[in-house]
Amino acid sequence: MPHPEPPVPRFAILGSGRGSNAVALMAEFRSGTMPAELALVIANVKDAAILDHASHAGYATALIESAGRTRSEHERLCLACLRQHRVDHLLLAGYMRILSPEFVAAWPGVILNIHPALLPDFPGLDAAAQQWRAGVRVAGATVHFVDAGVDTGPPLLCGSIAVRGDEGEAGLADRIRTEVEHVIYPRAVRLLLERLGRGGPLHGQERRTA
Ligand code: GRF
Repeated sequence: MPHPEPPVPRFAILGSGRGSNAVALMAEFRSGTMPAELALVIANVKDAAILDHASHAGYATALIESAGRTRSEHERLCLACLRQHRVDHLLLAGYMRILSPEFVAAWPGVILNIHPALLPDFPGLDAAAQQWRAGVRVAGATVHFVDAGVDTGPPLLCGSIAVRGDEGEAGLADRIRTEVEHVIYPRAVRLLLERLGRGGPLHGQERRTA
């Protein structure tokens, strides 16, 4: 008797706004060549465009507003929704909430985030503007594993572009998003799936000794 295929990992995307990375990720999940499923798209902000993109593409969506709720109350609701949809792994894509250390420690799967800079440089808000003001010649973005800090988790994949010098802050942010983020986030998910499939360490820090 042939063995039944193992179930494919189920992902959720969490975002707060425009959702352009979510659109790039959804296209990859829809390609039919990903050994994974996009089970749910969650937003914490009412009217976030990410929810429209997801529902137009036919994905299950949930609006779990963070406004007016404590962090733990909000995370409890998110957790219940993620469990209900049997989600294994989380992809943060423009999610303007910091996950509590308790949530990160308790989540049994992987949590990835994308940050518009070559970490560990330029963590935090307005990273593209920070790079512009610092006059860097090379800018970029990083997909990293989420840990209890802000933009501190081990990197999975990064990509870079040469700064032209005539883009301005907003132009550089657009170029990072469209020329780097939309390319590397789908690739990073494929890379993660390969590593999950192999069953080895997911990132180098697991090999570190004290
Ligand atoms: C991206 O630049 C991402 O790196 C940052 O927030 C932005 C979200 O953009 N965390 P979008 O909502 O995916 O268009």
